[in-house]
Amino acid sequence: MIPHDTIDTIIQTARIEEVVGDYVNLRRRGVNQIGLCPFHNEKTPSFTVSPAKGIYKCFGCGKAGNSVNFIMEHEHFSYPEALRYLARKYNIEIEEEEQTPEQLQELNEKESLYNLSLFAQQYFTKILTESEEGKAIGLTYFKERGMRDDLVNRFQLGFSPVKWDAFSEHAIQQGYKKEFLVKTGLSIEKENRLYDRFHGRVMFPIHSASGRVIGFGGRILGNDKSFAKYVNSPESEIYNKSKTLYGIYFAKNAIISKDSCLLVEGYTDVISMHQAGIENVVASSGTSLTHDQVRMIQRYTSNISILYDGDPAGIKASFRGIDMIVEQGMNVKIVLFPDGEDPDSFARKHHPTEVESFLAANTVNFILFKTRLLLAETQNDPIRKAALIKEIVNTIALIPDGISRSLYVKECSSLMTISEQVLMNELNKILRAKLKKSSPEAEREAEVVPPEQIPSEPQIDTDLDSAEYQEREIIRLLLLFGSEVIHIRLNPADEEEVPVGIADYVVNDITNDEMIFENPLYKSIFEEYTQGVEKDAIPDRALFLAHSNPEIASLAVNLVFNPYELSENWLKNNIMVTTEETRLQMHVMLALHAFKARKLDRMMTETRKKLMDVTSPEEQGALMKSFHELKKQSILINKDGLGRIITR
Ligand code: CTP
Ligand code: MN
Repeated sequence: MIPHDTIDTIIQTARIEEVVGDYVNLRRRGVNQIGLCPFHNEKTPSFTVSPAKGIYKCFGCGKAGNSVNFIMEHEHFSYPEALRYLARKYNIEIEEEEQTPEQLQELNEKESLYNLSLFAQQYFTKILTESEEGKAIGLTYFKERGMRDDLVNRFQLGFSPVKWDAFSEHAIQQGYKKEFLVKTGLSIEKENRLYDRFHGRVMFPIHSASGRVIGFGGRILGNDKSFAKYVNSPESEIYNKSKTLYGIYFAKNAIISKDSCLLVEGYTDVISMHQAGIENVVASSGTSLTHDQVRMIQRYTSNISILYDGDPAGIKASFRGIDMIVEQGMNVKIVLFPDGEDPDSFARKHHPTEVESFLAANTVNFILFKTRLLLAETQNDPIRKAALIKEIVNTIALIPDGISRSLYVKECSSLMTISEQVLMNELNKILRAKLKKSSPEAEREAEVVPPEQIPSEPQIDTDLDSAEYQEREIIRLLLLFGSEVIHIRLNPADEEEVPVGIADYVVNDITNDEMIFENPLYKSIFEEYTQGVEKDAIPDRALFLAHSNPEIASLAVNLVFNPYELSENWLKNNIMVTTEETRLQMHVMLALHAFKARKLDRMMTETRKKLMDVTSPEEQGALMKSFHELKKQSILINKDGLGRIITR
């Protein structure tokens, strides 16, 4: 819980050009500074930093934000993590806000589990590398498997002594609580005694994406089938198996720079791939990927290659699981290893360049892979082929992106020697059935049929119908000019103009007329803004630029980056604008008028529609009355002719 004041201080102190300057070589260009974008590959700089506005924007890839967003994006930190990072950089002390006893206890408990896990990892590593027992048994085992020292170090591998309570005893002696030893699963309590879960095993610590030890896998030495080969930490407050990927901390930078993630099965596969110089690799730990794991990968890339040890039956069994990955919008590829080899054994037998070229030559798109594999089985039996078509089209239908869907239809139709139209019809049938429940617009969007084949429907002019433009303009004015003052006549009859803050004026005008924003994003910005104004504190736009809701933050950045322009319509209407202030003043008035006029128009249209549906004279009467009210308001608003000027 970082207090709001502190957040303000951090945002005001962390100068964008300094924060970015730690990572990007910036040069001055006019009032801005430019450099090569750290978020995408480019040769000519399109990454722009505006010290005055405190924001950055890449005109190549579109990434934009303030210093907090930059650190979040660059370091893959959460919002509070980024704030803490900047606070450290600028020596700003964070005084955490008071927390409830429950919150505190939960936080303390988690922290205790993290601490103990780190302690355990350091202990196991020390045993492995410094004790006679560890060196003779554990290290020898790793050496026999061909594991290099630098990888043993990087992955913080370890060894848990054979004695059944060596670790538990040591931990208790060092002051760690029994409660946490049991909760992390490092110790097992039986008849009031603690046993080491992992005793006599080589240890693979499992790290979170930010590099903290959250659990362990322990492997027996040798291949005695009467013991489980691996024992893993049980689920705990800090270790959730379905949300964890082994190796993600060591892989994330490579995943980003290669824009692709390799998925293997086991701990040793990950480490051996690293040893072969391939670092964009994570393991699912022997199970199929969960929804959460896919989301985690998706933070870094939308390309995933699944590496299989050669067994088509096993792969077929996993098709359903892969469908789920496709459905999440990932571009899935498959690599099949030669029979009997897993990535670990293959990487150990071959030179790194051979591994690279093997991967390059054997990576196949999942949908095409699936089509080929199933096609080989149909042996031209028409019934089986029909079933195959359904199966493949079912998978294609899961792809969220319409363009990709039509590309696969093309490719698969040529693979299966079936006309594209047949596949498309089948596909549309599935899509329509799926979308029956959802909105009719979504159904139309889902079509992959070229537009000319869709029976034409009367086009609704959504643009004219929506209040999007007017609402956005209000938000933009508030964010850009909220703290400025304009002089206006509060009443048309008044002689004198009085100074009012734009924030106050706009907020009061809109709330007095009980106008409500339709766009949920604008609405929540407006509400937050209003709360500030009501407390006599005009919200600083930096708050929105660094908003914890990334949608709001990116919207704010884009609005602020939009140059302030005169509407062309103004010129057409020959409105003379002289000073900067009159210009701003006009702009605010026009925006408010347009906002209200559009809003009233829509309300009238709706009332009119309702009128057609009701039959009872009472209902009709009531609706007529409210229609006339709206009409009156609308006439009032449009009287001075301003209301229609800014519409687009
Ligand atoms: N696994 C597990 N428990 C087991 C077996 C496997 O948790 N009893 C998980 C481990 O994460 C393991 C992965 O499934 O890394 C893959 O299993 P497997 O291929 O059997 O192990 P390898 O990683 O190949 O281990 P090794 O090369 O040491 O045999
Ligand atoms: Mn193996």
